[in-house]
Amino acid sequence: MTRFSAILPFALGSLALASQDAFQSKCNQFAKKIDLPNVKVNFAEYVQAGTNLSLPDNAPSCGASSQSVSVDLCRVAMAVSTSNSSEITLEAWFPREYKGRFLSTGNGGLSGCIQYYDLAYTAQLGFATVGANNGHNGTSGEPFYKHPEVIEDFAYRSIHTGVVVGKELTKKFYDNGYDKSYYLGCSTGGRQGWKSVQKYPNDFDGVVAGAPAINFIGLLSWSAHFYPITGPPSSKTYLTAAEWNIAHEEIIRQCDAIDGAKDGIIEDTDMCHPILETLICKSNAKSKANCLSPEQVNTVQQILSPVYGINGTLIYPRMQPGSEILAQPIMYNGVPFEYSKDWWRYVVYNDPTYSGANWTVKDAAAAFAQNPYDIQTWNADISPFQKAGGKVLHYHGMQDQLISSEDSKWYYSRVAQEMDMAPSELDEFYRFFTISGMGHCGGGDGAYGIGQGTRTYAGSDPKDNVLMAMVKWVEEGVAPDYVRGAKFSNGPGSTIEYHRKHCKYPRHNVYKGPGNYTDENAWQCV
Ligand SMILES: *[C@@H]1O[C@H](CO)[C@@H](O)[C@H](O)[C@H]1NC(C)=O
Ligand SMILES: *[C@@H]1O[C@H](CO)[C@@H](O)[C@H](O)[C@H]1NC(C)=O
Ligand SMILES: *[C@@H]1O[C@H](CO)[C@@H](O)[C@H](O)[C@H]1NC(C)=O
Ligand SMILES: *[C@@H]1O[C@H](CO)[C@@H](O)[C@H](O)[C@H]1NC(C)=O
Ligand SMILES: *[C@@H]1O[C@H](CO)[C@@H](O)[C@H](O)[C@H]1NC(C)=O
Ligand SMILES: *[C@@H]1O[C@H](CO)[C@@H](O)[C@H](O)[C@H]1NC(C)=O
Repeated sequence: MTRFSAILPFALGSLALASQDAFQSKCNQFAKKIDLPNVKVNFAEYVQAGTNLSLPDNAPSCGASSQSVSVDLCRVAMAVSTSNSSEITLEAWFPREYKGRFLSTGNGGLSGCIQYYDLAYTAQLGFATVGANNGHNGTSGEPFYKHPEVIEDFAYRSIHTGVVVGKELTKKFYDNGYDKSYYLGCSTGGRQGWKSVQKYPNDFDGVVAGAPAINFIGLLSWSAHFYPITGPPSSKTYLTAAEWNIAHEEIIRQCDAIDGAKDGIIEDTDMCHPILETLICKSNAKSKANCLSPEQVNTVQQILSPVYGINGTLIYPRMQPGSEILAQPIMYNGVPFEYSKDWWRYVVYNDPTYSGANWTVKDAAAAFAQNPYDIQTWNADISPFQKAGGKVLHYHGMQDQLISSEDSKWYYSRVAQEMDMAPSELDEFYRFFTISGMGHCGGGDGAYGIGQGTRTYAGSDPKDNVLMAMVKWVEEGVAPDYVRGAKFSNGPGSTIEYHRKHCKYPRHNVYKGPGNYTDENAWQCV
């Protein structure tokens, strides 16, 4: 007995060391074994848990020169050509503690940036994971200028190429390959997830697509139209941040309690149609600190209205009410929206001097007519994906300041109509969840901790994590009926103040009591 216990620790120690060496040497040998068309391996390197990885090649505008890695993994970096004048930069991360699942991450904005934080997050959850730069480097749209191949990569080709190569590498790296394949992305990443569902129905078994930039031309038109409404800071139609706070408080005053709880959060923005004239200053008002001018009220009104095109058709729905404070610094800040400006500059008009200041719906029509490589991502017939057995979990924050959640509702309704299916039938393969109190892919006033990334992480249990909920749906056939979110007391990773179960659309949350609104069981999806 004594001998046995004395020997055991030593035996375990050398065993762990031996297995580490095997994984490590497999990683170090791996680059030599890769022989795939169009793929040039830059390096394969072993990364130990706890490493703060330095990323000197990442474009400065991507704003990520390092990434901490919490599990042992093999990192493979490649260039993959997509045509004779374009290429993607691709990374594949293979964790030691592998769960037999392949995953692709996505991108954001008009970038151009490998989302290393998503690679680290999904590798930590045991996925063999890939991330690409979407065909160009950095956040600007300038690389699109007179370079259609780069636009094509951005529209659909980067993700699909990364998936094709990534799956081959996963089969080469792990003896047992992979069983199921997943996608996780938000914003442009959400659009890329939907593009895969629409165009490559066999790429993934499960797609988690958040706040998608679908109806892409409509979206860029909508974000282009804010500046012509507000004008520059000197104009009468402009509101300062403080004035937007006034508008926000009035909107919350009128709409907060509709769901039964005064918690500062609008559960169902569909029911919020604020009367904004209440904001107009009385003619004898001594102070204008709590009211607005008629021109400013008109600005708020227009921003909370849909945009229609030259022929009167809907281009994009309204900004959902409740997002005013989050949206002000980026959408209503008195300068043309950067991504929209870049799109007309470098794609629609090929005119680097185009400023976006005088944008009108005529410009929208020009962009719609162009729709390069069907970047719209608006096809509502997803029956090939359904037939292939795929599942898609779509979510959208109800306080999203960059992409209106109402566009997601519109898409859901288009799919239902196009496929002639009631929500209970769509539930078999497509579920949409509205996340109250969530900004753009995270942040916000409510329970946005749903586990779509590190900044919304509140545990890996499927009930607290949209990605693991998708895994359970695909692998066990147990579909999520709600998405449980955590409200952090002080930002991501801080203690959890309360949970809320976010409803599956078209249901919405109503506070029934008897507990406090912080009690998740005091709410009901109706
Ligand atoms: C990683 O290194 C960078 C640059 O050296 C540093 O700024 C960052 O704080 C480090 N991150 C962690 C988690 O230690
Ligand atoms: C590049 O590809 C295009 C389209 O496939 C082709 O027309 C062109 O000749 C090719 N150019 C070169 C230099 O190979
Ligand atoms: C992107 O940056 C990487 C790393 O510096 C470089 O190897 C690659 O060629 C760049 N890609 C493009 C399309 O410029
Ligand atoms: C374009 O917008 C600028 C800035 O708002 C304005 O000064 C100018 O008059 C506009 N030009 C036209 C042709 O409307
Ligand atoms: C109306 O405009 C939209 C967007 O520009 C376009 O897609 C649509 O085909 C137009 N419809 C008609 C009837 O012209
Ligand atoms: C509910 O909880 C919040 C936060 O803890 C607290 O501020 C509020 O007073 C509570 N409301 C009731 C009715 O107990």
